[in-house]
Amino acid sequence: MSKKVLVTGGSGYIGSHTLVDLIENGYEVISVDNNARSTIGMLEGVEKITGQKIKNYKVDLCNFEETRAIFEENPAIAGVIHFAAYKAVGESVEQPLLYFHNNMQSLIHVMQCIEEFKIPNFVFSSSCTVYGNPDAIPVTEETPRKQAESPYGLTKQMGEQMIEAFAAANKDLSAILLRYFNPAGAHASALIGELPIDRPQNLTPVITQTAIGKIEKLTVFGNDYTTRDGSCIRDMIHVCDLAHAHTLALNYLIQGKHQNNCEVFNIGSGDGITVLECIHAFEATTGVKLNYVIGPRRPGDVIAIYANNDKAKKVLGWSPQHDINDIMSSAWKWEQYIQDLPTHLHLPNKRLN
Ligand code: UD1
Repeated sequence: MSKKVLVTGGSGYIGSHTLVDLIENGYEVISVDNNARSTIGMLEGVEKITGQKIKNYKVDLCNFEETRAIFEENPAIAGVIHFAAYKAVGESVEQPLLYFHNNMQSLIHVMQCIEEFKIPNFVFSSSCTVYGNPDAIPVTEETPRKQAESPYGLTKQMGEQMIEAFAAANKDLSAILLRYFNPAGAHASALIGELPIDRPQNLTPVITQTAIGKIEKLTVFGNDYTTRDGSCIRDMIHVCDLAHAHTLALNYLIQGKHQNNCEVFNIGSGDGITVLECIHAFEATTGVKLNYVIGPRRPGDVIAIYANNDKAKKVLGWSPQHDINDIMSSAWKWEQYIQDLPTHLHLPNKRLN
């Protein structure tokens, strides 16, 4: 069986870490990334870590002809892992059509190629955002999808449902939907990591950018929630653990171990941690004090969510190897490393234009 995997969004945060994990586990990878929200510097990092040249197609998946040409040029692909998508919650609220167009059109084109070229296995990047504000935590894969909190969240819900329908109609296809919780941290080498566009919205890059002085102070969005210290609860999952879940998901599909041709897995640490606990973990691990203040709640924030990850552990044999201290120390190492990178390698193209 071919071990050739096509990864869309290979220059992205989770995509680049997954390329490394796939290569380390014997897969041959092909990346597709138009670098609309990422940089080629990330693939160079992957090459340094793995010692392998990465074949990348700088193609916009919304262009069907160019997407199809990649599949035509690369016969016998064993599986597709589809990361490429926009993911900024706030931007999606302001520009929903941009999100509907980019995230859905690209997914449809990828599925059209999967069907035409008879690709047997498909792994999709989904998110715990599909649970909305859950009635009970931790959430299991059976927890119902609730009203999406943003157009971005809606694209993940629609994506899941489109793949479910597609798999129902294509019995030869095997698909897995991986619902990520809060990915954070960086590869231990600090050669790849998260590169936010403009001012970061996610907690971990806000923490590291505050620590390094790019951001003057961190605002904790609310300390009056009904949680143990009043701040929101999240499930922080190290990006390398998350990356490895993709390799295991693909192994599972290729080995034909699945019961159903479209299965769902939560990929989270299984532990809830508050925003204030994350801040304190960063300070304790790095010895760097953070300048932070308590501010108002952020509209649209879920109060508390974390994963029941029993299914991924039992069925995929996956288990997180990194804790919050590894997350914070690796994210900090990465933040310090990118200070010294040449500008063209670490600034997303959007800023360069
Ligand atoms: C959101 C999405 C998630 C998506 C992720 C990555 C929802 C409900 N969640 O996660 O699906 O995968 O973004 O883009 O759509 N915080 C602060 N101060 C800050 C930044 C964050 O206090 O400066 C707090 C937030 O209020 C929240 C926690 O930190 O409680 C995590 O926030 P964030 O990193 O933005 O991720 P989510 O909103 O959980």
